[in-house]
Amino acid sequence: MQDYLFSAIAPMRGLTKSFFIRILRQLNTLPDVVVSEFLRVHPTSTIDHDLQILLKESQQSTYKLHIQLLGNDISSIVRTIHQLEDQYAFDGINLNFACPMPKIYRKDVGGALLRDIHHLEPILAAARETTTRTLSVKIRIGFHDDHLFSKTLELINRHHVDMLFLHARTVQGRYSVPVEHSYTAQAVSQTTCPVFANGDIQNAEQARKIQTMSSCSGVMIGRAAIRYPWIFREMAQKESSTRIHSAVTFGHVLHYIMLLWEALRQQLPEVPAIHALKAFLNFVALGIDAHGQFLYRAQRICSFQDLQQLCSYLEERSIQIFQPTPFSGLYARPNREKPPHSNAIDGKSIHG
Ligand SMILES: Cc1cc2nc3c(=O)[nH]c(=O)nc-3n(C[C@H](O)[C@H](O)[C@H](O)COP(=O)(O)O)c2cc1C
Repeated sequence: MQDYLFSAIAPMRGLTKSFFIRILRQLNTLPDVVVSEFLRVHPTSTIDHDLQILLKESQQSTYKLHIQLLGNDISSIVRTIHQLEDQYAFDGINLNFACPMPKIYRKDVGGALLRDIHHLEPILAAARETTTRTLSVKIRIGFHDDHLFSKTLELINRHHVDMLFLHARTVQGRYSVPVEHSYTAQAVSQTTCPVFANGDIQNAEQARKIQTMSSCSGVMIGRAAIRYPWIFREMAQKESSTRIHSAVTFGHVLHYIMLLWEALRQQLPEVPAIHALKAFLNFVALGIDAHGQFLYRAQRICSFQDLQQLCSYLEERSIQIFQPTPFSGLYARPNREKPPHSNAIDGKSIHG
């Protein structure tokens, strides 16, 4: 088993924008790999403005940048790869075969492509033939079940994919069924490329445990990186014997929230900026208090004044340690993440 465990930030539409990666840099907590949020590729698609910023800002970066494409129209995928490669220096192309959102996959893209490998294979082959850079793919273990998983891994070998990110759930399992990293171990043993484990990884210790059981080369962190961005710094410290940073406190969390706020406010008027900030606060709040009071209050802020009042809670407790693992039973996106029949707190069902 290799010793170093690589880290990647998961693509998260609406969250892992260029400003968020800039904030990771400011907090000195960058992963080894950044996979951009998906670029929807179709006959009239263009490279959106935020992706252009990310591409420019990543030129001198320490991390590898992979641009994620989501689509099934081969000529559009080929055109987009050429367009990107002609204009920008970046490390890799990533293909999204994982998206579980019905409104997306109904168009036979993302996770829907795992239903039929005859649809998936020509896309993979065309991307491999076109790109001169690293080719990575992001998959789940299947659509309804795992019966095509092994065949999908064979395709990954046949088309010389350079890196695999595996979210070890089915597409229909969305975010609520348990992640099964035994599939990560299978992918490691069956493929010839490095495999990154993805799904519900909350902290550096857990990442190491998954590496031990699966022999994966890296881990891809999504929601935990929004809640606790210092996860990448902590992973890097465990990998080398560099300076140990002190524990993260509520004061650090307040600073992080203010960085998010300032970045959003530069792009948006006050009310839309508050609305956008809530998408981040939903995750951050999971580590603040066990009863979900902060989550409940965060979901109801409407103005900068409300935000200041909310943040006074953190200011008054600025030396309190912010735990790297969320409190159990709290959900940022209850309608997506809460297991069926759960009585867990979602921030909407409590008071005060
Ligand atoms: C808000 C949000 C947006 C997402 N957008 C994307 C996306 O653009 N592309 C993609 O492949 N996965 C997307 N995902 C899935 C994540 O990349 C990741 O696979 C998933 O959240 C599981 O990892 P985690 O448990 O570490 O969060 C998104 C997830 C969330 C929560």
